Amino acid sequence: MKIAVLASGRGSNFESIAKAVKSGKISGEIAVLIVDRKNIGAIEKAEKLGVNWIYVDPYGYSSREDYDRKIVSILKHLQVDLVCLAGYMRIVSEVFIESFLNKIMNIHPALLPSFPGLKPHEKAIKYGVKVTGVTVHFVDNGIDTGSIIVQAVVPISPQDTSSSLSQKVLELEHRIYPQAVKWFVDGRIEIKGRSVIVKNANYSTLPIVPALEDF
Ligand code: GRF
Repeated sequence: MKIAVLASGRGSNFESIAKAVKSGKISGEIAVLIVDRKNIGAIEKAEKLGVNWIYVDPYGYSSREDYDRKIVSILKHLQVDLVCLAGYMRIVSEVFIESFLNKIMNIHPALLPSFPGLKPHEKAIKYGVKVTGVTVHFVDNGIDTGSIIVQAVVPISPQDTSSSLSQKVLELEHRIYPQAVKWFVDGRIEIKGRSVIVKNANYSTLPIVPALEDF
């Protein structure tokens, strides 16, 4: 299995997936990290881990579709099987989604469908919800609307700020994203309409559903 990661920033989720691949927990290979920005943490992490990375400059393309055609051509050339968006700040177009139908994952730091889009921690605190969390889902045409693979719950305390909350959520991100990738690579993910089922997984535990087995 060949995995590609797309990122725009710090790259901590990229790192968690790449390390799980490197240690053999995920039996695949990171074919490439693609970035749409220069001088970002994700590139530094790729260099440290010896992962091939490519910068595709968005200003070189007149539309979102043209940009995505370029990305798709790179991914097809490398025979990528799974694409992981990890802090990738671009909305992917239909061109991309149709070329990798049910093969693009994203991680969002909230319990979707609550608080999609930008600043989810700030929105959760402002709303006054008592729990938030993180979701790994397949990517469809909407913003953070695709089928949900796994979710983890984090309680919000009255003392939490968006930065303390994002720290707590991030720790879980680094566990559930590699796990979701491993389930995919191991062929355990079944898609039925909007529902994603992880075969032979334990669905009766909180705060992570389904329960993680490896991370
Ligand atoms: C993470 O919180 C992820 O859930 C969101 O963007 C952030 C990216 O962080 N989509 P990193 O670049 O992976 O460190």
